[in-house]
Amino acid sequence: MSQNISPIELEKRCAIIEACLEMNRLGINQGTSGNISVRHEDYLLITPTSVPYKQLKPETIVRMKMDGSVKGSLKPSSEWRFHLDILNARPEVNAVVHAHPTYSTIISIMGMDIPAIHYMIAVAGGDNIRCAPYETFGTKALSHQALKALEGRKACLLEHHGIIAVGANLSKALWLAVEVETLAKQFHGVLQLGKPRVLSQDQIAAIVDKISNYGHAD
Ligand code: 13P
Repeated sequence: MSQNISPIELEKRCAIIEACLEMNRLGINQGTSGNISVRHEDYLLITPTSVPYKQLKPETIVRMKMDGSVKGSLKPSSEWRFHLDILNARPEVNAVVHAHPTYSTIISIMGMDIPAIHYMIAVAGGDNIRCAPYETFGTKALSHQALKALEGRKACLLEHHGIIAVGANLSKALWLAVEVETLAKQFHGVLQLGKPRVLSQDQIAAIVDKISNYGHAD
């Protein structure tokens, strides 16, 4: 490896690759869609753009400074802008997962937020999962909309695009991405039956703290 990579950084790079492969195994991504970043010291480590996950190696994960600059010839994910902006804006967040899971993307194509159809919505931090208005992938404008949709939340939908899930570590962020897709699937199913019945703000408020200790939730 040409870069000086410490054992801790190597571990994080390997965890990113494992999480990418897991996204494909779980069916929440396919091909080269989606990307992952993890905070490391004063940097973020991020998947390279358009490299099939099976071809990823620890040295092909890109190290980016928190000002967006990168040394060397490796190109970071085209979505580096929102990864960087989220990690800069949210000190409690150490990992960002972006994916294009089918049901979440269907709901995002409808421009809908996921409402409180199930109490598990609270694992994302509140009584809904917002859908950020459409912007071109990789742009500052998309990053701006994503950050707004993530206010007080750990996940959001991106209109006509997919999802973002964040966490204190990578396994929490990946776990949350799967929970979001499950909620989207439930919401999609409920929409087939009629007007969704939702839990009240009070009912969700009563469990937001309680659920923060549940499963992989922060
Ligand atoms: P990258 O291959 O550049 O990470 O892009 C994939 C993607 O999902 C863009 O939204």
